[in-house]
Amino acid sequence: MEEISPGLENVYIKYTDLTFIDGNKGIMRYRGYDVNELAEKSSFEEASYLLLFGNIPSKEELKDFKNKISENLALPPYIHEIIKNAPENADALGIMQTALSALSETYINYQWKRDNDLKLIPKILGNTLSIVSNIYRIKNKLPIKDPVFDKNYATTFLKACFDKDVGEERSMAMDSALILYMDHEIPASTTSAIVTASTLSDMYSSLTSAIAALRGPLHGGAAESAYKQFEEIGYPDNVETWFNKNILQGKKRLVGFGHRVYRTYDPRLKTFKKYADELAETENQKKMLEIAKKLEGLGVKNFGSKGIYTNTDFYSGLVFNEIGFPLYMFTTLFGLSRISGILAHIMEYVETQERLIRPRAIYKGPGEKKYMQVD
Ligand code: CMC
Repeated sequence: MEEISPGLENVYIKYTDLTFIDGNKGIMRYRGYDVNELAEKSSFEEASYLLLFGNIPSKEELKDFKNKISENLALPPYIHEIIKNAPENADALGIMQTALSALSETYINYQWKRDNDLKLIPKILGNTLSIVSNIYRIKNKLPIKDPVFDKNYATTFLKACFDKDVGEERSMAMDSALILYMDHEIPASTTSAIVTASTLSDMYSSLTSAIAALRGPLHGGAAESAYKQFEEIGYPDNVETWFNKNILQGKKRLVGFGHRVYRTYDPRLKTFKKYADELAETENQKKMLEIAKKLEGLGVKNFGSKGIYTNTDFYSGLVFNEIGFPLYMFTTLFGLSRISGILAHIMEYVETQERLIRPRAIYKGPGEKKYMQVD
């Protein structure tokens, strides 16, 4: 008797050497390295290289990788036009998806081969930095501009967005966020990319699938929803009443809580929480942080016994806000961070285990019916 697995829960679709998660102990590693240690001590380029090429790069390898990314920061003019012509109220992640999809047009009949794949990586990383920074610029009525590489990927990205140096601490927080969100085994977005890549479609199309799946509030949109939740609460004194009325009475789910894999705290949370604390400067940022901490306390007290704890999206929105980004950019920043992880997974899948993904559905509809034409 066939059975279905709703949500593909406990279904394994690939072997991986990339990310290890122990959801009971709250451990997460990229190729054996603790993710918080990488976030603290390495850089986006180094961690990306590790995931995509298989080792921590030597000085020379890192320099070469950075050079290649910097050579690919300029976007083709038609992508500038797509970003420029997006309606004023267009969703930032939607523009990113459209731009990636447009770039796929030049890769019809892409030949998946390790050499080809590795050559494309710096181009995609350069392109996506440029796409996302220009989405921010357009939304802020700044002219489109090709970024200029500066020190590292995170600093280049922030300068490309804000046209100024936002300081060492904010650059470090951005770098850490890019690393912490870089990969998470195969959540809905990465799985979507793998499904697309399994048809031997191209890399940009696979990324487009991933970005589409990232959008939803149960996945990538959670940081934005969590922040909106803090805004809705408004003041630290309102937290308990809001929690009782909305969460305990089952009207809403507590956003930034719960996870399909973790039964304890999401390990990445610790670094995000540290930055949320350190970077809170304005009255509003301090107020939001206080609301978040109070809410987290109530959430853990009420749901901890069910294995529902704080996930990484609870504090990441606060950090993005403190770096200087508006709410509408949060999911797009997550998207930018996740590109290396998605690429690493689709390459791993196609290069080592390629098989078209084609599951089945159990038919439960009516039996054979006779078709009768209307007249
Ligand atoms: N608030 C209240 N109750 C919850 C929550 C929550 N955040 N999460 C799970 N539960 C309860 C749920 O009501 C259910 O209870 P019962 O068995 O009594 O009906 C039980 O826990 C199991 O829930 P589920 O939806 O079957 O579990 P899941 O593994 O599908 O949930 C989840 C994963 C992320 C969809 C869910 O925890 C959720 O909706 N969280 C809020 C949204 C959120 O924070 N999303 C970000 C996820 S992490 C980032 C990422 O990986 O993309």
